Amino acid sequence: MSSGQFVSNCTADAMARAAEQLKAGSLVAFPTETVYGLGADATNSDAVARIYKAKGRPADHPLIVHLGDMQDISDWADEIPDYAIALARSFWPGPMTLILKRSALAKNFITGGQETVGVRVPDHVIALALLHEFKKIGGKGIAAPSANRFGHVSPTTSAAVTAELSEYLEENDLILDGGPSLVGVESTIIDCTEELPKILRPGAITAEMIQDATGLSLTDSVSDIRVSGSLENHYSPAAKVVLDIGPESGDGFIALSNIETPAGVIRLASPQNNEEFARVLYTALRSADQQSLARVVVAQPAGDDISVAIRDRLLRASRGR
Ligand code: TXA
Ligand code: MG
Repeated sequence: MSSGQFVSNCTADAMARAAEQLKAGSLVAFPTETVYGLGADATNSDAVARIYKAKGRPADHPLIVHLGDMQDISDWADEIPDYAIALARSFWPGPMTLILKRSALAKNFITGGQETVGVRVPDHVIALALLHEFKKIGGKGIAAPSANRFGHVSPTTSAAVTAELSEYLEENDLILDGGPSLVGVESTIIDCTEELPKILRPGAITAEMIQDATGLSLTDSVSDIRVSGSLENHYSPAAKVVLDIGPESGDGFIALSNIETPAGVIRLASPQNNEEFARVLYTALRSADQQSLARVVVAQPAGDDISVAIRDRLLRASRGR
């Protein structure tokens, strides 16, 4: 297989061409504010099957359908509760995925055979331009998981997408470059199929923000909805990730900037605050692998903001591949 084409000049023309490639069944990796996605026409089962192949992902894992406009959710979902509308109004475009009862358009190859569908309007000019061009030529939505091999760290730059996937892409597939993702961790996933919202995967949209936007409290009852990011070993670099211990000589080290680097330790990132921590985390984990480090020590940030998502991903990363 030959690698996909790399597009760094994302002009309006280039976006229109990328949308046509999608419509023709090719894969297009594109930037979002959270992480880069590997996109396919969400109504084309052959194209979606190629996502699974390129990622090496089990076929029963559901995919998020990306949309250019909030109104488009009615194509994909039925019986949308009022609180889901309130969330969409408050946080879209943005780093939030809503799990809703699926419509007839959301086939088993998108939902993994479940009766629900995940939808999200991303907040990135290139993603939105691609989605709008795709809609103009009849596209209904773009299915896109994170553009990494299954179980690996999600890519937050086009270079990381190329490193993960170029050998699995075909000649007509594209990788769009939109600079580093500004949020840096995957979207908050909220189950909206019950009376009360429930967080399935934490992200930049926090529990407090959800409560404020809906006026509802969150349920914390255990849901049986499958989220692949919930598998134990996920988001993992090749290096061993160890949390909250003192790093030793030769270890990689990721910590807030107020924490000093002990002698002989290789500092991989020194973010000033929790938002920056999220933004740089995956690139820092990747750089450990680029430097062939055996071990990365991470001093986890505290709080109930985006640090909840950071700790969630780090816990899974620490369980290894
Ligand atoms: O920020 C993000 O959400 C990124 C960007 C590209 O949008 N996408 C992303 O996709 O993280 P992925 O496939 O790597 O993770 C999506 C998660 C998976 O764990 C999947 O199981 C879950 O969303 N998911 C999708 N549809 C679902 C559904 N109907 N019910 C439950 N979980 C669902
Ligand atoms: Mg993923």
